[in-house]
Amino acid sequence: MRTIASGGFARFAWAAVAYNLVVVLWGALVRATGSGAGCGGHWPLCNGEWTPHSPAIATLIEFTHRAMSGLALAIATGACIFYAASAAMKARREARNTALAVWLLVLAQIVVGALNIALLAPVWMQIVHLLVADLLWIALVLLALRTAAERTEGSSYVELV
Ligand code: HEM
Repeated sequence: MRTIASGGFARFAWAAVAYNLVVVLWGALVRATGSGAGCGGHWPLCNGEWTPHSPAIATLIEFTHRAMSGLALAIATGACIFYAASAAMKARREARNTALAVWLLVLAQIVVGALNIALLAPVWMQIVHLLVADLLWIALVLLALRTAAERTEGSSYVELV
């Protein structure tokens, strides 16, 4: 039976919180610089291209925001796989459900972001985007706290089946 340190995963969960803060701050930059239309009305393409060639600053800012959310989804997927695969944590329904909530919220945020583009960013859609960002942030902090609690309550190692 293989084991991995849950302390390592707690660090990963806190790193995910920090990374999400950067994503949110970059989102604020998109808004502050009026770069929301930097990729035109296109999604998932950016001005009709998968990766923009010789982009304007606004395109670069909007494209980077989208790319960062892709990495956020990869991180959330990794967290779900970790909890699904670790036998000792299976009992920890709360942490597992929080990881799933994080994943669903990142996915929802990507859909809301795309709708924002399609609907030309009406105010109510911007508010929904901001609200989901807040919920995602809360869920990530909860995940990190619950993972850290798992560690201090005893098992510093997680069994992998
Ligand atoms: C993890 C994923 C994401 C997070 C946490 C996030 C977060 C944010 C935040 C906090 C803002 C600033 C909102 C404000 O100040 O009112 C923002 C703006 C924006 N985001 Fe995202 N975002 C994500 C993904 C996406 C995606 C995938 C898209 C596009 C497909 C997108 C499109 C936009 C646009 C267009 C704006 C500017 C809206 C405006 O001009 O008011 N976002 N985002």
